[in-house]
Amino acid sequence: MAKAKTVYSCSECGAQFPKWTGQCQDCGDWNTLQEEVAPSRPVASAANPKAARFEGFAPKADVQKLQQVSVKGTPRFGTGLNELDRVLGGGLVPGSVILLGGDPGIGKSTLILQSLALLSEQKSTLYVTGEESAEQVALRAQRLGVQDADLALLADNQLESILDIALEHKPEVLVMDSIQTLYTDTLQSAPGSVAQVRETASRLVRFGKQTKTIVILVGHVTKEGALAGPRVLEHMVDTVLYFEGEQNSTFRLIRAIKNRFGAVNEIGVFAMTDTGLKEVANPSAMFIKRTQEDATGSVVLVSQEGTRPLLVEVQSLVDQSSLANPRRVTVGLDNQRLAMLLAVVNRHAGFSLYDQDVFVNVIGGVKVHEPAADLAIVLSVLSSFKNRKLDSGLAVFGEVGLTGEIRPVQRGLDRIREVEKLGFTRLIMPKGNQSGIKSSKLEIIAVTTLDQAVRAAFE
Ligand code: TYD
Ligand code: MG
Repeated sequence: MAKAKTVYSCSECGAQFPKWTGQCQDCGDWNTLQEEVAPSRPVASAANPKAARFEGFAPKADVQKLQQVSVKGTPRFGTGLNELDRVLGGGLVPGSVILLGGDPGIGKSTLILQSLALLSEQKSTLYVTGEESAEQVALRAQRLGVQDADLALLADNQLESILDIALEHKPEVLVMDSIQTLYTDTLQSAPGSVAQVRETASRLVRFGKQTKTIVILVGHVTKEGALAGPRVLEHMVDTVLYFEGEQNSTFRLIRAIKNRFGAVNEIGVFAMTDTGLKEVANPSAMFIKRTQEDATGSVVLVSQEGTRPLLVEVQSLVDQSSLANPRRVTVGLDNQRLAMLLAVVNRHAGFSLYDQDVFVNVIGGVKVHEPAADLAIVLSVLSSFKNRKLDSGLAVFGEVGLTGEIRPVQRGLDRIREVEKLGFTRLIMPKGNQSGIKSSKLEIIAVTTLDQAVRAAFE
């Protein structure tokens, strides 16, 4: 027998090298190379002759002319959960492969079980669980009140046997929970290692494409926030969904990072209750529950997630620093962006915070990654720094440019309408977003410079 070959693969990006080095030459991360046994060429073993079809010998494809490719439109069917359908771009597409990532314990298995229970009323489904026993799943189903669902369940984590059963069972939707527990006999490394994750996922993808089965892979996320195992997983699948939220908050957001069949950045919102996840159909105000009347450092930001506005509270604390390099800490926001905004504040609003620690937090575990948050961050920081609270009926949005100008942002009108609907009284926003507003109950303060915005907020 030939000697097994060793390769070193990066646990971050999945790149492979013949020799160990301290730094991955592909993605530049340190200490991520792990020794693994190179996959042997797959053999169509006597034990699973059928599964051998998915070992890498796909039928030969023919060259076609683009205009002759028949397109029947993308037929979709709903998952039974509207919020999940929204993120998927309208439902599941046959033959598509979806990766559902998230921290352990966030509620991935709960979401899958609830959705499959509803789906199994119309479609044949197969739920493969590698983490929990069938009893555990049944127990959870009881708690969720879906114990009578016509759902096929398989507690297994060996790829070849799962593929065999799937070929026999012919489900329309196949779920693997989780990809990190799955292993194939053709590799000797442990389940969850880069090589195993990549190999098993790619064979499930191939299975899905060839049999037109919808495959949903559940994956855990590492501490750094990347999908555990290689990022290559994200390239292999059609859709990547992240399930996020704080462990101790009841709200859960599901977000599309990549979607070959729909728009990204759409979010679905759920609340985790003791009987499972409940959809939140109108989430715009759910993160705003200001109890304190005199909170300095707190500002309501009108953010936009996908096609809908979401109002969130930005809080800051600015405090005299005892460090040579004062701290700039953000939660739910971009740290670099804060540093940039503090420089703009210094130059164009005349407040220098070089000897202050600055902490900025978005309440409720929400992550905001749009420039429209800039003005809210600045006003929140200044409110804490000046120890002046802002009007409790005030909402804010707008991008801050490096020259101290306030720039217009996307979907201004939607944001204004939402602020009005939720009963705010004042809105500070970019002048560039003002066109198209007819009459408004709001006192709209349209500004072009940071200086104007600061004066309007603290007048
Ligand atoms: P789970 O779906 O097992 O998370 P994951 O698969 O992402 O690891 O979620 C487990 C958490 O959810 C656990 O901490 C308990 C909580 N939970 C509820 O609050 N209500 C419920 O009805 C269920 C089933 C779970
Ligand atoms: Mg789970």
